[in-house]
Amino acid sequence: MDTRFISTLKALMEIGFSELYVIGSSTTEEVSQEITLEKPTLDKRKMLEELYRKLEEERKCVLYEGASGYVFGEGNPYSPVVFVGEAPGEEEDQQKRPFVGRAGRYLNQKLEEVGLKREEVYITNVVKSRPPGNRKPSAKEMQSCLPYLRKEIDIIKPKLIVCLGSTALEGILGKNLPVTKYRGQLFDYPYDRSIKVFLTYHPAYVLRNPYSDKEFTEDMRRIVNLLSSL
Ligand code: URA
Repeated sequence: MDTRFISTLKALMEIGFSELYVIGSSTTEEVSQEITLEKPTLDKRKMLEELYRKLEEERKCVLYEGASGYVFGEGNPYSPVVFVGEAPGEEEDQQKRPFVGRAGRYLNQKLEEVGLKREEVYITNVVKSRPPGNRKPSAKEMQSCLPYLRKEIDIIKPKLIVCLGSTALEGILGKNLPVTKYRGQLFDYPYDRSIKVFLTYHPAYVLRNPYSDKEFTEDMRRIVNLLSSL
């Protein structure tokens, strides 16, 4: 069997496919004989579901008055890249999904422009509930949610964390670094140095400042390149 075909099948299994049907001359049995049909060793979806349950149960991560509950991360838990935003907004709070409002739609469009699909990556926030009036979460509020974000990242174990805006970076590194100066830079993730952290604009910032669209697109291209080199 073609080795490139086999490595494609292996890659599919690595991201969670456990049953493969091959149309053509090879039967499933033939395929299983030639490649080891291993199920992914970790059921990351289940681990994330458990973490979400814990978040709901413990209520240690700030749950703002007026918020309708927590908004957890979503997407492919086997993704090599995790996008991290600041906190859910109004639409996210209503739908209980991250980045589904105007900024989210813009992010989806940019992902597609560089050949990534939203459902192929993982998207989450530092703070898991909507701050009143969409204000910036305080350092203490971000600290209260950090253990859950750290665990989320621990389960996914991506190659790269993309911080959407300086608040997301502050939530992860505990440092306030202006995005205009530090955008495009790579940092070490302090809790696992095999993971790199990349800073770019928050999509809402780009929508408010359309002249930064070009740089945001460049950053997205850079992310794709980094994924193949890291
Ligand atoms: N802005 C964020 O930072 N996160 C969301 O989920 C939506 C908007």
